[in-house]
Amino acid sequence: MHVNDKSFRRVFSHLPTGVTVVTANGAAGPVGMAANSVVSVSLDPPLVLFCPAKSSSTWPQIRSAGAFCINVLAVHHEEVTRRFAARGAARFDGVAYDTHPAGPRLTDAVAWVACELHDEHDAGDHTIVVARVIDIEARRPVVEPLVFCRGAYGSFRQLGAG
Ligand SMILES: Cc1cc2nc3c(=O)[nH]c(=O)nc-3n(C[C@H](O)[C@H](O)[C@H](O)COP(=O)(O)O)c2cc1C
Repeated sequence: MHVNDKSFRRVFSHLPTGVTVVTANGAAGPVGMAANSVVSVSLDPPLVLFCPAKSSSTWPQIRSAGAFCINVLAVHHEEVTRRFAARGAARFDGVAYDTHPAGPRLTDAVAWVACELHDEHDAGDHTIVVARVIDIEARRPVVEPLVFCRGAYGSFRQLGAG
């Protein structure tokens, strides 16, 4: 099996992930981008990472803000995900959110993680961004998350739950 763009994408598409929108208070208003590369990293200190592409036009705006909010998307957020991945879209139009010093918190997200930029590492065509968590909250009652796998969106089903 050769490693090329196609096989890399195809094989990793089998690894299910959650979906987030990473938001910030940009100089000209709210900015945000869909990202599934978010990983919790360290408890002490509390650190997370996410990996923006070097081609992203939104990441430099988030970077300038110095802080961002990771919104974990809910199962009904497929359309929101597409919007926050589309170039030129009015991403926040019709999306309810509260303001937060780190970045907009989408009202019906599953969870919010407010972060301050901590460190950056070069990683090929992406950057590994490490951020310090300053505020964190999950919705109550629990909301089902959106799952991304094999290029499609779905929901989480607990085994044995029928
Ligand atoms: C489910 C999903 C996950 C994504 N994850 C990432 C990611 O982790 N990093 C990234 O740079 N782009 C990711 N993207 C693509 C970006 O959302 C999109 O390319 C980007 O927002 C393009 O616009 P920009 O120039 O405004 O950044 C993802 C897209 C989708 C649909």
